[in-house]
Amino acid sequence: MRVAPSILSADFGNLAADVRAICEGGCDLVHVDVMDGHFVPNLTIGPVVVSAVAKAATKPLDIHLMVENNTFFVDLFAPLKPGYITFHIEEEKNPHRLVQYIRELGIKPGIVLNPHTPAEAVEYLLHDVDMVLVMSVNPGFGGQKFIPTVVEKIKRLKVLRDRINPDCLIEIDGGVNAQNIQMLSDAGVDVCVAGSYVFSHDSYKTAIESLKV
Ligand code: DX5
Ligand code: ZN
Repeated sequence: MRVAPSILSADFGNLAADVRAICEGGCDLVHVDVMDGHFVPNLTIGPVVVSAVAKAATKPLDIHLMVENNTFFVDLFAPLKPGYITFHIEEEKNPHRLVQYIRELGIKPGIVLNPHTPAEAVEYLLHDVDMVLVMSVNPGFGGQKFIPTVVEKIKRLKVLRDRINPDCLIEIDGGVNAQNIQMLSDAGVDVCVAGSYVFSHDSYKTAIESLKV
Protein backbone atom coordinates (compact mmCIF):
# COMPACT_ATOMS: atom_id res chain seq x y z
CA MET A 1 0.00 0.00 0.00
CA ARG A 2 1.31 3.42 -0.95
CA VAL A 3 0.38 6.26 1.40
CA ALA A 4 -0.59 9.82 0.39
CA PRO A 5 -1.22 11.98 3.48
CA SER A 6 -3.73 14.76 2.80
CA ILE A 7 -2.28 18.07 3.95
CA LEU A 8 -5.83 19.38 4.45
CA SER A 9 -5.44 18.15 8.05
CA ALA A 10 -1.89 19.54 8.49
CA ASP A 11 -1.05 22.51 10.72
CA PHE A 12 -1.24 25.39 8.20
CA GLY A 13 0.72 27.59 10.62
CA ASN A 14 3.63 25.18 10.20
CA LEU A 15 2.84 23.77 6.80
CA ALA A 16 6.38 23.39 5.45
CA ALA A 17 7.48 21.57 8.61
CA ASP A 18 4.50 19.20 8.40
CA VAL A 19 5.20 18.49 4.71
CA ARG A 20 8.86 17.74 5.49
CA ALA A 21 7.78 15.48 8.36
CA ILE A 22 5.43 13.32 6.27
CA CYS A 23 8.09 12.98 3.56
CA GLU A 24 10.72 11.98 6.12
CA GLY A 25 8.08 9.70 7.67
CA GLY A 26 7.97 7.62 4.49
CA CYS A 27 4.91 8.82 2.58
CA ASP A 28 4.82 8.04 -1.14
CA LEU A 29 2.86 11.06 -2.39
CA VAL A 30 1.77 14.38 -0.87
CA HIS A 31 -2.00 14.72 -1.42
CA VAL A 32 -3.16 18.31 -2.04
CA ASP A 33 -6.90 19.05 -1.96
CA VAL A 34 -7.88 22.00 -4.15
CA MET A 35 -11.48 23.18 -3.56
CA ASP A 36 -13.12 26.16 -5.26
CA GLY A 37 -16.25 26.78 -3.14
CA HIS A 38 -18.45 25.83 -6.15
CA PHE A 39 -17.97 22.15 -6.93
CA VAL A 40 -17.73 21.51 -3.18
CA PRO A 41 -18.89 23.68 -0.25
CA ASN A 42 -15.37 24.51 0.92
CA LEU A 43 -12.43 26.60 -0.24
CA THR A 44 -8.79 25.62 0.23
CA ILE A 45 -5.51 26.60 -1.36
CA GLY A 46 -4.16 27.92 -4.64
CA PRO A 47 -0.77 27.95 -6.35
CA VAL A 48 0.81 30.45 -3.92
CA VAL A 49 0.48 28.06 -0.98
CA VAL A 50 0.98 24.91 -3.06
CA SER A 51 4.29 26.26 -4.39
CA ALA A 52 5.50 26.43 -0.76
CA VAL A 53 4.33 22.83 -0.32
CA ALA A 54 6.17 21.80 -3.49
CA LYS A 55 9.38 23.41 -2.19
CA ALA A 56 9.18 21.53 1.13
CA ALA A 57 8.16 18.18 -0.38
CA THR A 58 10.67 15.52 -1.32
CA LYS A 59 7.89 13.26 -2.70
CA PRO A 60 5.67 13.93 -5.75
CA LEU A 61 2.54 16.03 -5.27
CA ASP A 62 -0.82 14.37 -5.91
CA ILE A 63 -3.17 17.25 -6.71
CA HIS A 64 -6.87 16.44 -6.26
CA LEU A 65 -9.00 19.06 -8.03
CA MET A 66 -12.51 19.59 -6.60
CA VAL A 67 -13.39 22.50 -8.87
CA GLU A 68 -15.73 23.58 -11.68
CA ASN A 69 -13.22 24.84 -14.24
CA ASN A 70 -10.75 21.98 -14.41
CA THR A 71 -8.61 23.26 -17.29
CA PHE A 72 -8.12 26.65 -15.62
CA PHE A 73 -6.83 24.92 -12.47
CA VAL A 74 -4.65 22.48 -14.42
CA ASP A 75 -2.94 25.49 -16.02
CA LEU A 76 -2.50 27.12 -12.59
CA PHE A 77 -0.82 24.10 -11.00
CA ALA A 78 1.10 22.59 -13.95
CA PRO A 79 4.14 24.89 -13.46
CA LEU A 80 4.65 23.31 -10.01
CA LYS A 81 5.36 19.97 -11.76
CA PRO A 82 3.13 17.74 -9.64
CA GLY A 83 3.40 13.97 -10.04
CA TYR A 84 -0.36 13.57 -10.56
CA ILE A 85 -3.35 15.79 -11.24
CA THR A 86 -6.75 14.15 -10.75
CA PHE A 87 -10.12 15.70 -11.61
CA HIS A 88 -13.74 14.70 -11.01
CA ILE A 89 -15.53 13.02 -13.91
CA GLU A 90 -18.83 14.51 -12.64
CA GLU A 91 -17.57 18.00 -13.51
CA GLU A 92 -15.90 17.48 -16.88
CA LYS A 93 -17.65 17.48 -20.26
CA ASN A 94 -14.52 16.37 -22.16
CA PRO A 95 -12.62 14.10 -19.75
CA HIS A 96 -10.66 12.34 -22.47
CA ARG A 97 -9.39 15.63 -23.89
CA LEU A 98 -8.37 16.85 -20.44
CA VAL A 99 -6.54 13.59 -19.68
CA GLN A 100 -4.53 14.01 -22.89
CA TYR A 101 -3.84 17.66 -22.08
CA ILE A 102 -2.52 16.84 -18.58
CA ARG A 103 -0.26 14.18 -20.08
CA GLU A 104 1.07 16.60 -22.70
CA LEU A 105 2.11 18.84 -19.79
CA GLY A 106 4.30 15.99 -18.46
CA ILE A 107 1.97 15.18 -15.54
CA LYS A 108 0.27 11.84 -14.81
CA PRO A 109 -3.51 12.21 -15.25
CA GLY A 110 -6.13 10.63 -13.01
CA ILE A 111 -9.94 10.56 -12.74
CA VAL A 112 -11.91 10.91 -9.50
CA LEU A 113 -15.26 9.24 -8.81
CA ASN A 114 -17.69 10.58 -6.22
CA PRO A 115 -19.30 8.01 -3.92
CA HIS A 116 -22.43 7.73 -6.13
CA THR A 117 -20.57 7.45 -9.49
CA PRO A 118 -20.25 3.87 -10.77
CA ALA A 119 -16.90 2.23 -11.55
CA GLU A 120 -18.10 1.73 -15.14
CA ALA A 121 -18.03 5.51 -15.69
CA VAL A 122 -14.26 5.27 -16.26
CA GLU A 123 -14.26 2.12 -18.39
CA TYR A 124 -13.46 3.94 -21.65
CA LEU A 125 -10.92 6.25 -20.00
CA LEU A 126 -8.91 3.56 -18.23
CA HIS A 127 -6.55 3.04 -21.18
CA ASP A 128 -5.33 6.60 -20.85
CA VAL A 129 -5.08 7.34 -17.12
CA ASP A 130 -2.45 6.53 -14.51
CA MET A 131 -4.81 6.63 -11.54
CA VAL A 132 -8.47 6.34 -10.60
CA LEU A 133 -9.31 7.97 -7.28
CA VAL A 134 -12.41 6.60 -5.56
CA MET A 135 -13.98 8.94 -3.01
CA SER A 136 -15.10 7.14 0.14
CA VAL A 137 -16.65 10.33 1.59
CA ASN A 138 -18.52 13.20 -0.08
CA PRO A 139 -15.74 15.55 -1.13
CA GLY A 140 -15.23 18.84 0.70
CA PHE A 141 -13.95 18.13 4.20
CA GLY A 142 -11.46 16.04 6.13
CA GLY A 143 -12.47 13.91 9.09
CA GLN A 144 -15.67 12.39 7.66
CA LYS A 145 -16.89 8.83 8.09
CA PHE A 146 -15.96 6.14 5.54
CA ILE A 147 -18.87 5.11 3.25
CA PRO A 148 -18.73 1.27 3.15
CA THR A 149 -20.54 0.78 -0.21
CA VAL A 150 -17.42 1.95 -2.05
CA VAL A 151 -15.68 -1.34 -1.22
CA GLU A 152 -17.92 -3.13 -3.73
CA LYS A 153 -17.10 -0.41 -6.28
CA ILE A 154 -13.35 -0.88 -5.75
CA LYS A 155 -13.74 -4.59 -6.49
CA ARG A 156 -15.60 -3.85 -9.75
CA LEU A 157 -13.04 -1.22 -10.69
CA LYS A 158 -10.19 -3.65 -10.05
CA VAL A 159 -11.69 -6.16 -12.52
CA LEU A 160 -11.86 -3.41 -15.19
CA ARG A 161 -8.39 -2.11 -14.32
CA ASP A 162 -6.78 -5.57 -14.46
CA ARG A 163 -8.33 -6.20 -17.89
CA ILE A 164 -7.83 -2.78 -19.49
CA ASN A 165 -4.79 -1.13 -17.88
CA PRO A 166 -2.97 -3.08 -15.14
CA ASP A 167 -0.51 -0.18 -14.64
CA CYS A 168 -3.28 2.20 -13.55
CA LEU A 169 -3.33 2.75 -9.78
CA ILE A 170 -6.51 2.63 -7.68
CA GLU A 171 -6.50 5.28 -4.95
CA ILE A 172 -9.01 5.79 -2.15
CA ASP A 173 -9.76 9.02 -0.32
CA GLY A 174 -11.83 9.64 2.80
CA GLY A 175 -12.12 8.10 6.24
CA VAL A 176 -9.10 5.82 5.83
CA ASN A 177 -7.45 4.53 9.01
CA ALA A 178 -5.59 1.53 10.43
CA GLN A 179 -8.91 -0.27 11.06
CA ASN A 180 -10.11 -0.36 7.43
CA ILE A 181 -6.80 -0.38 5.52
CA GLN A 182 -6.42 -4.17 5.26
CA MET A 183 -9.95 -4.57 3.89
CA LEU A 184 -9.20 -1.84 1.33
CA SER A 185 -5.98 -3.50 0.30
CA ASP A 186 -7.80 -6.83 -0.12
CA ALA A 187 -10.43 -5.12 -2.31
CA GLY A 188 -7.73 -3.78 -4.68
CA VAL A 189 -6.61 -0.36 -3.43
CA ASP A 190 -2.99 0.55 -4.33
CA VAL A 191 -2.75 4.04 -2.81
CA CYS A 192 -4.55 5.41 0.24
CA VAL A 193 -5.12 9.06 1.07
CA ALA A 194 -5.31 9.74 4.81
CA GLY A 195 -5.66 13.17 6.37
CA SER A 196 -7.07 13.27 9.88
CA TYR A 197 -5.71 9.81 10.68
CA VAL A 198 -2.08 10.72 9.90
CA PHE A 199 -2.07 14.26 11.28
CA SER A 200 -3.77 13.32 14.57
CA HIS A 201 -0.71 11.22 15.48
CA ASP A 202 2.29 12.69 17.31
CA SER A 203 4.52 10.59 15.06
CA TYR A 204 3.49 10.85 11.40
CA LYS A 205 6.01 8.11 10.64
CA THR A 206 4.21 5.66 12.95
CA ALA A 207 0.84 6.56 11.41
CA ILE A 208 2.16 6.17 7.83
CA GLU A 209 3.79 2.84 8.65
CA SER A 210 0.52 1.53 10.14
CA LEU A 211 -1.13 2.05 6.73
CA LYS A 212 1.56 0.21 4.74
CA VAL A 213 -0.17 -3.16 4.72
C1 DX5 B 1 -12.01 15.33 1.07
C2 DX5 B 1 -10.58 15.28 0.64
C3 DX5 B 1 -9.74 14.34 1.38
C4 DX5 B 1 -9.65 14.58 2.86
C5 DX5 B 1 -9.41 13.27 3.53
O1 DX5 B 1 -12.74 16.05 0.15
O2 DX5 B 1 -10.50 14.92 -0.73
O3 DX5 B 1 -8.45 14.21 0.80
O4 DX5 B 1 -8.64 15.48 3.22
O5 DX5 B 1 -9.45 13.43 4.89
P1 DX5 B 1 -9.67 12.22 5.91
O6 DX5 B 1 -8.58 11.24 5.70
O7 DX5 B 1 -9.62 12.90 7.25
O8 DX5 B 1 -11.04 11.63 5.61
ZN1 ZN C 1 -8.50 14.44 -1.60
